[in-house]
Amino acid sequence: MQPGSPTRASAAERDEHRTRSRRRGRGLSLPAVILVGGQGTRLRPLTERTRKDMLSLVDRPLLAYTFEHLRRHGVTKAIVSCGYLPTQIETHFGSAYGELALSYAVEDAPLGTAGGIRYAAAGLDGPFFALNGDSLREADLDELVRFHRETGARATILLTPVADPSRYGLVRLAGDGRVRQFLEKPRPEDIDTNLINAGLYVLEPDVLDLVPEGRAVSIEREVFPRLCERGEVFGLALPGYWLDVGTPSTYLQAHRDVLERSFRTELGDQLGSDYMLVDPSARVDPGARLVPPVVVGPNVVIDAGARVGSLAAIGAGARLGPDSVVENAVVGARTIVEERTSVIGSIVGQDASVGADCTVRGLAVVGPESVIGPANQLDHGLRVGAGIEIPAEAVRFS
Ligand code: GDD
Ligand code: MG
Repeated sequence: MQPGSPTRASAAERDEHRTRSRRRGRGLSLPAVILVGGQGTRLRPLTERTRKDMLSLVDRPLLAYTFEHLRRHGVTKAIVSCGYLPTQIETHFGSAYGELALSYAVEDAPLGTAGGIRYAAAGLDGPFFALNGDSLREADLDELVRFHRETGARATILLTPVADPSRYGLVRLAGDGRVRQFLEKPRPEDIDTNLINAGLYVLEPDVLDLVPEGRAVSIEREVFPRLCERGEVFGLALPGYWLDVGTPSTYLQAHRDVLERSFRTELGDQLGSDYMLVDPSARVDPGARLVPPVVVGPNVVIDAGARVGSLAAIGAGARLGPDSVVENAVVGARTIVEERTSVIGSIVGQDASVGADCTVRGLAVVGPESVIGPANQLDHGLRVGAGIEIPAEAVRFS
């Protein structure tokens, strides 16, 4: 579905709306624009068959966690801003995620982060959340909206501390929370704070007037710097989990955090205090061992002598052969791990198969639909592309 007509509310209407919503003092009902236009190149080969935001995180797409977060804070309407066709997203989620109504704004050509927001938010007449759909977070959005209203900001950026800000948007704050400077992808010599843009904003609709039409525009590189000069953008660091899921290493980290419940999720609540979730349709041989935290999806078959866990996520319909080992690892949906094969600290994509007597370790990534012949050793971050066949005994590292 396309968003509403591109004509936006007049300045007077917007002011009235702002006064009304300030009087109500509630941030709970703000709509959200979620950006999902990126390519996910650093996660190849996993993203060769699946969009980054639709990659499975334990048992549901990454994007589902963003929907959960918004829903938990009372958001009832989200517009998914798509730089290219959102077929996988629409097919999976349709028009709602529980009480969160979903619509899709599809750009003819990618418009950049600001252009995407402008296009998707065209029908909105009050403040709204805008956020990147490729990171995980659990910050208190009500607190962010309260701060936004108190300061009278045109834009408020959620901040989070990270060890290395170089891959993010660095945010320099003044004492009152005003953003002095926004530096996207700062050079090493510019890094003088650990606070970065966590990729979630509260925006007043007139911010969109700063976004030129007809070309791709970056909110980070073009809009925030201008708003900073005018002193109209504020930043607030809030406690709570935050992770940018951009690489195989952070993808595996995200799995660990969901399974260990250090990132609060609805799935984590279901895991309960025994940290084990085995779908009733799974067939686990009594001679197999499950070591929590572990999640075993629907229709999974686990044979005798297999050890699964700790920190294992087994996708729907996967099969783990006799005496196989899966530990601190992800096995995708419908993937087969043959007998005596171990997958440790690694990722095997969906619809793949790993033959008998293989070792997959050291953050190796097997792409979806790949077929690894018996007795191979994949290690040292080796990435096998999607749909690749590796013959028996073809790869070893020692
Ligand atoms: N609709 C739409 N159209 N969305 C887009 C487009 C586009 O043309 N280009 C990028 N996006 C989406 C991406 O899918 C992603 O969800 C978000 O916008 C940000 O783009 P990325 O390409 O992922 O940027 P980044 O990860 O390098 O940096 C961003 O995120 C960091 C936090 O993870 C910036 O916002 C940084 O400032 C921030 O620190
Ligand atoms: Mg990103």
